[in-house]
Amino acid sequence: MKTKLSVNLNKIALLRNSRGRNYPSVEGFARKALAWGVAGITMHPRPDQRHATYEDVFELSKVVTEYPGAELNIEGYPTDDFLEVVLKAKPEQCTLVPDEPNQVTSDHGWDVKAQGEFLKPIITQLQDAGVRVSLFMDPDVDQISIVKDLGAERIELYTEEFASTYSDAGNTEVLNLYRKATEHALNLGLDVNAGHDLNLENLGQFLTIEGIAEVSIGHAIIVESLEMGFESTIKQYLQIIND
Ligand code: PXP
Repeated sequence: MKTKLSVNLNKIALLRNSRGRNYPSVEGFARKALAWGVAGITMHPRPDQRHATYEDVFELSKVVTEYPGAELNIEGYPTDDFLEVVLKAKPEQCTLVPDEPNQVTSDHGWDVKAQGEFLKPIITQLQDAGVRVSLFMDPDVDQISIVKDLGAERIELYTEEFASTYSDAGNTEVLNLYRKATEHALNLGLDVNAGHDLNLENLGQFLTIEGIAEVSIGHAIIVESLEMGFESTIKQYLQIIND
């Protein structure tokens, strides 16, 4: 199976919001990434809309239709406002994440043992609107077993533990934790996505785990793009000044 890349554009939205006009344009970067062959775009609007806004969700739901087979993945905690937007925009996938309103970034998966009853009707409501549902999960097989009963089609494995313990030689213990979680989910008939802190350095090793349907990557793509483009940009400015 070929793993798909969904590019998270929250950081482009954050830059744009810092100046109050549409530069850089989230739709523009989405179009570029899709034209270069990525399978999808991810946005994670938080309740304060400090980076991705609800308006972005509607705009991007139109943009992906210009690229056959492309998908929009909307992530977030299922507040009433969030659900209203997702049910109207109807992205191909919604990844439900158990984060607090002011959390800097997502830092744990769902405790479906405790919150399954809360999630079940939400999952059904999204699916009735034609939206595939994925639950953000830690690599915990007992928790993952319950996801199937809740009716979600996918899980997204929270990969921070893999990323923060990554070494070139491979951290076998942690990698096996993710491998076992993936195999367990696949055996249950769940598809498996993964995301958080994946980057150019650690992604290849993570994908030695077979069967990952999609990786969702944001922060590192933006940092790496800056690192790769900074020198050329500075030199072009100097050239203009020196000329
Ligand atoms: N998955 C979820 C649920 C997230 O909240 C995020 C960050 O917005 C990501 C994936 C992507 O993580 P990163 O920005 O570290 O690539």
